[in-house]
Amino acid sequence: MLIFLDSANIEEIQQANDWGVISGVTTNPSLIAKEGRNFEQVVREIAAIVDGPISAEVISLDSEQMVKEAETLARIHPNIVIKIPITPEGLKATKILSRQNIKVNMTLIFSTNQALLAARAGAAFVSPFIGRLDDINQDGMGLIEETAAVFRNFNLDTQIIAASIRHPLHVTQAALLGAHIATVPFKVLQQMVKHPLTDAGIEKFLADWETVKNK
Ligand code: G3P
Repeated sequence: MLIFLDSANIEEIQQANDWGVISGVTTNPSLIAKEGRNFEQVVREIAAIVDGPISAEVISLDSEQMVKEAETLARIHPNIVIKIPITPEGLKATKILSRQNIKVNMTLIFSTNQALLAARAGAAFVSPFIGRLDDINQDGMGLIEETAAVFRNFNLDTQIIAASIRHPLHVTQAALLGAHIATVPFKVLQQMVKHPLTDAGIEKFLADWETVKNK
């Protein structure tokens, strides 16, 4: 499973990219708003750092405007993927864009049927939102499991991005269930690196080294 960073913060993206662990970035209007900066400029800066798919979301609700927005965003960099919410208009735009070889990440997926429709419309990626389902007492990871099974049954080449990841266990579970990608907030990426026994191990090695370093 590949790891994408779910962030529009340039410092976080630079740091995660320096660790060599991320293969792409996803953004959404809320993440862009958090940075308080010009959308296209942020996307351009991300694309200059990370050599992989960079999801940028449209905000129009009708397909014609979605396609226009998508075409503008796609011109920023060849790695730009257009994030479009699953609606009838979104599906229509996805069909048009996929025929123009502009990749779509269909977002706000909360059911297996929505994921199947997105794949059939030509989406390159689907983003089931795990955490937001867990928040309302529904099984977010069950959605990954079902979607992965359906895509496998019919050899669909749409990639599953486990999104709305809240903690490291979500990442492990998504990998075990066959998500192609997990898009993780920087905080979760930091949590994934950590283990108390690693910290204790380093401390012990350094303490032991102190006793022999001048011998
Ligand atoms: O990028 C989409 C998704 O990961 C959002 O996550 O935490 O706002 O539910 P969250």
